[in-house]
Amino acid sequence: MSKNKYTNVAIIGASGSIGRALVQKLALNSKITNIFALSRSKTQFQSSKIRSYSFEFEKEETIETAAKLIARYGPLDLVIIATGTLHGKELTPEKNIKDLSTWKFEKIFLVNTFGPALVLKHFIPLLNNKERSICATLSARVGSISDNRLGGWYAYRASKSALNMIIKTTSIEVQRKSKNTVIVGLHPGTVDSELSRPFKGNVAAAKLFTPEFAAEKLLEVLDSITLAHNGKCFAWDGQEIPS
Ligand SMILES: NC(=O)c1ccc[n+]([C@@H]2O[C@H](COP(=O)([O-])OP(=O)(O)OC[C@H]3O[C@@H](n4cnc5c(N)ncnc54)[C@H](OP(=O)(O)O)[C@@H]3O)[C@@H](O)[C@H]2O)c1
Repeated sequence: MSKNKYTNVAIIGASGSIGRALVQKLALNSKITNIFALSRSKTQFQSSKIRSYSFEFEKEETIETAAKLIARYGPLDLVIIATGTLHGKELTPEKNIKDLSTWKFEKIFLVNTFGPALVLKHFIPLLNNKERSICATLSARVGSISDNRLGGWYAYRASKSALNMIIKTTSIEVQRKSKNTVIVGLHPGTVDSELSRPFKGNVAAAKLFTPEFAAEKLLEVLDSITLAHNGKCFAWDGQEIPS
């Protein structure tokens, strides 16, 4: 359970395994008044404090509209962007440079980099600048250039490296305007989800987290975030991930 005094929080990607688990965990926090749950399909939840909205990364105006509707409820204390993609129809992560193609890069970058960047554009102005506020985006350890020992997964890795640069760049701009706002990236560990489904056979059972465990750990990490962490990326156990 998060110890933070959040009043208004927004989860973008509330239909995903981790996004949904975050919404459900935060709903148990009695200090939270409103949870804004955004997804393509406008996923509905049971709790009356959860308000659902739809958006599409392909249509920036849908992100802008959702942000304007949410702004009516007052500033946001926490935004978590939990969208992402790794595979899909005829799209498997590249093992070999011969597997690269423009359409794969476009599809992966749209969801993992361009989309979160547009969410930052429209949601950062909503963040509380009078008290501490956090915007966290789910990245991935494989986006770390210095930690890349296995190779492969070109588009996914590159999209997350670029996302980390967007997070860092945004954190510098935000710091100039609001001393209370922190922008970070988060790595959730390997989590049992649609995104990891084709690859989970290679993962030891003890290292494959449930979405609920990952959500709990990520909220614990956010509890310990200070202004000194602005622009950095952290794993589920609180360890900083190098660029
Ligand atoms: N699972 C892992 O092992 C793992 C490891 C490292 C990092 N991560 C990161 O954690 C984040 C969440 O992953 P997850 O495991 O929860 O995956 P997931 O269950 O597959 O959820 C992915 C989420 O992204 C949304 N999404 C995908 N394509 C979209 C699009 N074109 N437009 C808008 N939304 C879109 C999905 O919406 P729909 O429901 O509408 O498809 C869903 O809400 C991702 O950023 C992922 O890279 C996960």
